[in-house]
Amino acid sequence: MKKIRTAMLGTGFMGKVHTEAVRRLGNVEVVALAASPGRDVGPLKDSYNIDYVTNDWEKLLQDPDIDAVHICTPNSQHAPMTSAALKAGKHVLCEKPLAMSSAEAKQMLDLAESKGLVHATNHNLRYYPVVQHARQMIAAGDLGEILVVQGTYSQDWLLYDTDFNWRILADANGPSRVVGDIGSHWMDMIQHLTGLKITSLCGDIQTFHKTRKRPKGSVETFSGKTLAPSDYEEIRIDTEDFASVLVQLGPRCRGAYTVSQVSSGNKNSFRFEIYGTKCGVSWNQESPDHLWIGHRNAPNQIIVKDPSLLAAKAAAFADLPGGHSEGYDDSHKQLFRRFYQRIADRSAPIDYPTFADGVRGMHLIEKVLESSKRRAWVDC
Ligand SMILES: NC(=O)c1ccc[n+]([C@@H]2O[C@H](COP(=O)([O-])OP(=O)(O)OC[C@H]3O[C@@H](n4cnc5c(N)ncnc54)[C@H](O)[C@@H]3O)[C@@H](O)[C@H]2O)c1
Repeated sequence: MKKIRTAMLGTGFMGKVHTEAVRRLGNVEVVALAASPGRDVGPLKDSYNIDYVTNDWEKLLQDPDIDAVHICTPNSQHAPMTSAALKAGKHVLCEKPLAMSSAEAKQMLDLAESKGLVHATNHNLRYYPVVQHARQMIAAGDLGEILVVQGTYSQDWLLYDTDFNWRILADANGPSRVVGDIGSHWMDMIQHLTGLKITSLCGDIQTFHKTRKRPKGSVETFSGKTLAPSDYEEIRIDTEDFASVLVQLGPRCRGAYTVSQVSSGNKNSFRFEIYGTKCGVSWNQESPDHLWIGHRNAPNQIIVKDPSLLAAKAAAFADLPGGHSEGYDDSHKQLFRRFYQRIADRSAPIDYPTFADGVRGMHLIEKVLESSKRRAWVDC
């Protein structure tokens, strides 16, 4: 069978994760990479073991032998790269948050649909096997009516005013940092699991560091080193470090979440708790193979990932036997597998988040900012 030929736009954290995950699929070949203008492509050719590495992503998109692309660049690049890729006839898997605004995201969705191309937004965190088990429990009615959703996505990597990344700047990131970067995952997850939509919310955002010190050299060069004061320039910050959000999902379900990039000791502490009229479930990304089930009148349980013990539809997201961990890398692989199945066979189910989920995500991000600005509840 002919392999699907794909390319990565962006060679940072996600470019590497996507390349590795795609290479584990078997039916897809990563044939090209686009690095940022000016970046020395020689070391990338060696480290990725790919001959075709270019600084010119627009030229790459004109290659008729490339079927699909992954957009793994800063958020400001998502819409222009996606739009050019779709116009060149490529299927597109784009990172989250999908765009800089919901209007931009909607244009991406409309273009993909009008071209009849396959499109996905990379909400990979849905695809841990025990998370899918929680979804199947909820669908089967095991939790009863869902009453309460709670959780957080907490990190600490931007705690100090000397911590720096493109996400800090609205020009590259969009107007919301923590809600866009990690709150988008939390809101997507809770809606994916419960099947409910966030219908109203009340958000409060805070930028603790009104200014930050930007290294005068490249961040990679300086990372991990102690700099002298003269190595920095001070800049004003226009994206938030923290948010707390109350949510309503329909007439009865209520909840709240926090998102933070300044909570020391938390690396990627993504937690959800979902409580129904019969029992509750809770999961933390930092312990990905375990699902807690809470009972009122019986001992609580911990389900350990083991495909032979998971609901059948959840077991389809586990490739290894129990006792062998499946984590962050594997969640990407599961999503990508389904995206490429759909490219190979248009009758395959759309069992992955599309640009429509990305549009919804952008809409909710904007609603959190609007609510915080107005200091009021807003309907979504
Ligand atoms: N799904 C997830 O779990 C997850 C995790 C992290 C990041 N992300 C998303 O992935 C995207 C990338 O984030 P990252 O953490 O990999 O950032 P990063 O800074 O590590 O990598 C971004 C890369 O894009 C490259 N780039 C910038 N402009 C370019 C251009 N014009 N042409 C080619 N390359 C260009 C940069 O050189 C860099 O290599 C963001 O949208 C982010 O929100 C998703």
